Amino acid sequence: MTQNSQVTYLKDYQVPSFIIETTDLDIRIGDEYTSVVARLKVRRNSASSEPSSELVLQGSKDIKLQEVMMNGLILDKSNYDLEGSVLSIHQCPEAFELTTECLIQPQLNASLEGLYKSGGMYCTQCEAEGFRNITYYLDRPDALSVFTTRISAPKVSYPILLSNGNPVEQGDLDNGEHFAVWHDPFPKPAYLFAMVAGNLVRQDDVFTTVSGRKVDLQIFVEAHNSHKCDHALESLKRSMLWDEQVYGREYDLDLFMIVAVDDFNMGAMENKGLNIFNSDCVLADPATSSDAMFERIEGIVAHEYFHNWSGNRVTCRDWFQLSLKEGFTVYRDSQYTADTYSAAVKRIDDVTLLRTHQFAEDAGPMAHPIRPASYIEINNFYSVTVYEKGAEVVGMIHTLLGDALFRKGSDLYFGRHDGQAVTTDDFVAAMSDASGIDLSQFKHWYSQAGTPTLAITDAYDATNNEYRLTVGQSTPATAECQKKLPFHLPLRMALLDTNGLEMPLTLRDDDSVQGDNLLLGNSCVLNITQAQQTFVFEGVMEQPTPSLLRGFSAPVKLDYAYTQEQLLFLASKDQDGFCRWEACQRLLIEATELAMSAMNQSSHYQLGDSLVTMLRASLVDETLDPAMVAKLVQLPSEAYLAETQTTVDVDLIHTGREAMRLAIATALESELLACYNRCHDIGLFSQTGKAIGQRALKNTCLSYLNALDSVQYQGQYQTIARDQYALQANMTDVGAALHILIGQNNSELAAPLLAEFYQRWQGDAQVVCQWFAMQCGANRPGLLKQVQDLLDHDAFDIRNPNKVRSVVGSFIRSAINFHAVDGSGYAFVGDMILKLDNFNPMIAAGLAKPLGRFKRHTPQRQALMQQQLRRLSEAQLSKDVFEVVSRALDSANV
Ligand code: BES
Ligand code: ZN
Repeated sequence: MTQNSQVTYLKDYQVPSFIIETTDLDIRIGDEYTSVVARLKVRRNSASSEPSSELVLQGSKDIKLQEVMMNGLILDKSNYDLEGSVLSIHQCPEAFELTTECLIQPQLNASLEGLYKSGGMYCTQCEAEGFRNITYYLDRPDALSVFTTRISAPKVSYPILLSNGNPVEQGDLDNGEHFAVWHDPFPKPAYLFAMVAGNLVRQDDVFTTVSGRKVDLQIFVEAHNSHKCDHALESLKRSMLWDEQVYGREYDLDLFMIVAVDDFNMGAMENKGLNIFNSDCVLADPATSSDAMFERIEGIVAHEYFHNWSGNRVTCRDWFQLSLKEGFTVYRDSQYTADTYSAAVKRIDDVTLLRTHQFAEDAGPMAHPIRPASYIEINNFYSVTVYEKGAEVVGMIHTLLGDALFRKGSDLYFGRHDGQAVTTDDFVAAMSDASGIDLSQFKHWYSQAGTPTLAITDAYDATNNEYRLTVGQSTPATAECQKKLPFHLPLRMALLDTNGLEMPLTLRDDDSVQGDNLLLGNSCVLNITQAQQTFVFEGVMEQPTPSLLRGFSAPVKLDYAYTQEQLLFLASKDQDGFCRWEACQRLLIEATELAMSAMNQSSHYQLGDSLVTMLRASLVDETLDPAMVAKLVQLPSEAYLAETQTTVDVDLIHTGREAMRLAIATALESELLACYNRCHDIGLFSQTGKAIGQRALKNTCLSYLNALDSVQYQGQYQTIARDQYALQANMTDVGAALHILIGQNNSELAAPLLAEFYQRWQGDAQVVCQWFAMQCGANRPGLLKQVQDLLDHDAFDIRNPNKVRSVVGSFIRSAINFHAVDGSGYAFVGDMILKLDNFNPMIAAGLAKPLGRFKRHTPQRQALMQQQLRRLSEAQLSKDVFEVVSRALDSANV
């Protein structure tokens, strides 16, 4: 399995030896071949330490090179080499014009990287290294060039021709062809290039910027989706305003376009002035999309828009710096959502994602720092670590600097580096220069992988009214680094008195305390910098309850021996929404663990009274935000529960959690029903925060109540679910009801509903994907056969990533099925990886990652997972899958 194992290292970075000042593309779309003529104005880079006269351009083996010209003269084959995918031009002068003519076949491109066909339209995806599938180029993010793009195509089939920047010319040609020329005045790397040719309709809007410029906003979609654009347009306008108000960032072009495409590997892409979106991540209407999807769409629209500054105006020097744009932009879109909706609920969602998936990645074979030191295939590093942990790292800088200095730092960063390709070091330097705060130790977050544990102990001295908090940190070894240096991190905390009020804090000046410990009223941010340090609070008049890691101020595991009484106290009293929820979660996890051991001994599980009281208090409190109540009473997912266990017994987690569900429903049946009825609004559909929260809460209640039906079958709650389904009021309610009903392990019930649902929605690809996902991710055993049958369904298309994600991705998330003890789930996923790797390595590698995380599973499962990995390793693999599989197998041998 040693094929393709070229490793790229950060330490080998060198500035490019040539600069491409302008890039003129002439792209002629044809049925069999698309011709790409690239005219590049090139000069040597005086900043290059190794001046060379050889220009080395990246391409791919699917490009047919027709001709190479220098300064208008055709080059003889002796003047250049074409080896594999690399084109080297010998003896280049100081400055010259290089023209290449190539032929490509986008209609055969199933990797969805470069120029490809999705349905009837041509579109592009160039990040990270897709541009090299279009033409030979300096395909690296630090090669910035001014692009002019001419596209021509048959007018009837492709009436819309788009590229980056502004339209400068268009017209008709012979033979029913037409053309358009686009010019983007902002120099950009090739990964931000985009073009589209298709038969699309347009939805328009305008945004007036803070300085009074009118920006045209346009969304292009297939005609049948024209009614699904409103939400994205509204989200876009809100994002544009927010970025002006919060970051002082104004949009720069006069036109901002979004195109929706059905076949897309990712969610969306921030190409300059021409964002391309997976249809599923931009189109929505209440009948077909749930509240969660509306929220996700708003976040993605905001994210891609925010990249215009954090990514496009200031871009990455190399792909090791990916978190520079992704971590920062995820942080920005999270802030946007928190500001626009409920901050506490958004924080809970983000922390849940981080702890469930990023902590798992950090503890597995793909562990890497947010700035990796090496890669085989960069696509594998568009990871929860680079994104979510990267966002947490930016958030910690914000916490350490405070609002004003953070804004000063971001202004300095954007101002200092506008138009440049820079590094995460440059980002941190701007933050540090603007604030005067030393962030040198903080930078370990960029180079060290692994999740730190904060071990905290405390002692109250009633004679001296002193409270001591001792904080230790440790981080497990990861492949790239055995011994970790201590991190610098902000620990936000408060001390609560017996009434739950925050005590005023006075921190004794201690030599062991480094850096400024920010006191913010009655809560403070401690600068943790050492392996072990102690903080002494003075004038503490009674034994306090510590509220620790408020707002989840650092991406760590908190190890503090909270008593059950303390947790119950925090769960009802803490004013920090995150900590309040966290206290509930800890109690629910502890209770689930008891349920698991009861199940293990085949004994009955009895839910504790205090927990019931706590849950009841939340359910009946009508003053609380219903979205928050839904979070407070929801059980941790099986995936997160698995994260908290030293060895993972998938079946036991499932049965233990189901027992909890049943116990809670039994104990709180009347409260759950009352809460359902209170929140079940059959009036006019509304999307206010309150209405959305009420739907979340009532569907949480309905799900609990239906746990009762599966044991003591009376059908009462099933009827409520059926009625809710039959109302067809909106997809949030319909989807939740259907999900509950088909989760009942009763095919007589599920089959007609699923058939009816499909019948109704078969014309809508987005809903069909939900239909697939619901069946393939159902949380009950024995799904594989059904999943395999669905692969043969007319609506399934293995070349469409959304369909693959809804079927195979959902199956993997159904742990009891993926981890079935007979290994059938692993073998199925192995089969799918091999099939997909032949044409879409990115999607294949995404499915391979879960197979590599075998470490904490039972020995039998570990062996079965490794068996699949070895089987994969014997095949001819893409770089993408090769890297994932080889890292996983290496980790088995240590
Ligand atoms: N730049 C990425 C899209 C991308 C990712 C292109 C990987 C090529 C390879 C884009 O900005 C992005 O991050 N999209 C996310 C959604 C976002 C809200 C986190 C995605 O596509 O999932
Ligand atoms: Zn992004």
